[in-house]
Amino acid sequence: MTETTNTAASACAIADAAHAAATSATAPDIVCAANIAENPYKRDFPLLANHPDLAFLDSAATAQRPKTVLDAQRRFYEEMNANALRGLYRLSVEATEAIDVARNRVARFIGAPKAQDVVMCRNASEALNIVAKAFAPTVLEPGDEVCITIMEHHSNLIPWQQACRAAGAKLVYLYPDENGIITPEEMDAKIGPKTKILSCVHVSNVLGIENPVKELGRRVHEQGGYFVVDGAQSVPHVKVDVTEIGCDFLAFSAHKLFGPFGMGVLWGKDELLNAMPPFLTGGEMIDNVTEQDATWAPVPEKFEAGTQDAAGIYATAAAVAYVESVGIDVIEAREKALVAYCMEELGKLDFVTIIGHPDANMHHGVVSFNVNGIHPHDVASILDMDQVAIRAGHHCAQPLLTWLGVENLACCRASLAFYNDKGDVDKLVAGLNRVWSMFHGE
Ligand SMILES: Cc1ncc(COP(=O)(O)O)c(C=O)c1O
Repeated sequence: MTETTNTAASACAIADAAHAAATSATAPDIVCAANIAENPYKRDFPLLANHPDLAFLDSAATAQRPKTVLDAQRRFYEEMNANALRGLYRLSVEATEAIDVARNRVARFIGAPKAQDVVMCRNASEALNIVAKAFAPTVLEPGDEVCITIMEHHSNLIPWQQACRAAGAKLVYLYPDENGIITPEEMDAKIGPKTKILSCVHVSNVLGIENPVKELGRRVHEQGGYFVVDGAQSVPHVKVDVTEIGCDFLAFSAHKLFGPFGMGVLWGKDELLNAMPPFLTGGEMIDNVTEQDATWAPVPEKFEAGTQDAAGIYATAAAVAYVESVGIDVIEAREKALVAYCMEELGKLDFVTIIGHPDANMHHGVVSFNVNGIHPHDVASILDMDQVAIRAGHHCAQPLLTWLGVENLACCRASLAFYNDKGDVDKLVAGLNRVWSMFHGE
């Protein structure tokens, strides 16, 4: 696998340079990042720049993309487009090299020791399915336990239900306390010698809380089990380093990381990826094929059957480049300031109930709430009239909402990204006042 090439490396460099040029006037640091009255970021995002009246508060569902990512995708098609891996001619080699460069960039971003252990797939859901459907059967036996939390997104829950059913294993849940925290006592009670796999959401898409992944990983490893982290809501918002966390697998989606739709990442430990069978089979993932048998290509190709979305992979690297140029610490600081302001303002509305930890510091970008007595779908529809985009429903976490006991098995969720500002939160608050008045005629 090539480390760098002039063409593809320079394309990523272009993404960096373009962003640096766009934001050089403000040279953001952590102090001014927390100044949410200023917003030097919206101009990097064409959709936001073109819709100045939109308060987009649904980034946990999918983020907006900066121009550098859109340009990278287009540049791939305009300058490098060929089927990667298959050709010996210049364009195809360049497409292959672009994928290699992108993989290196993603690996560096998540602290992976080797780029080869970064498997490119469609999204976090597919990445988690690879682990549950290809890895789990190699280690799960009847009577074993798989441990997850009650706050999992369905993408990190249903695959484990199925893996347990297939293996005759038991699915065990970690329940948080009333603030959303998984306590050491709960870990003591649930993680034990039978725990073969612990798969945990890093940051909850409903509660916004960050789970103690290092501690969870340490405990399951102590029991001889394996640790899987769903980083779909953490990788875009906080520094995620697989080596520091000490996990065995990490899954996330590019589209929540300001990258393209249809791209996801599974990182796994070298020895585990090498030992497990492929998930999908077909072209490009083989070493040798005979009439009755086949052998597999080395990792990562073993897990990347069929034609890869080379343009998407390339644009994913541009998204990583963009995030790095803003700075993940700046992103985190700004989102903390936004959430603090949002929770403070929502706290002033006596008809709004915030779900999750009362301390804003414990939320990463996500504030879920309900308007007393009004269905979340009504709230979201009325807010939409004021160009405030929030999400309402079960957020693909039905067992969590059932456990929380929220009415209608639904809640409202405002999810903030660093490109939001104080004005977006003010629009949400004004919109909620309007919702209340519409229903109560005040
Ligand atoms: C915590 C979490 N995990 C997994 C997923 C699944 O991501 P995708 O739909 O991109 O596969 C989501 C999506 O919202 C999520 O929030």
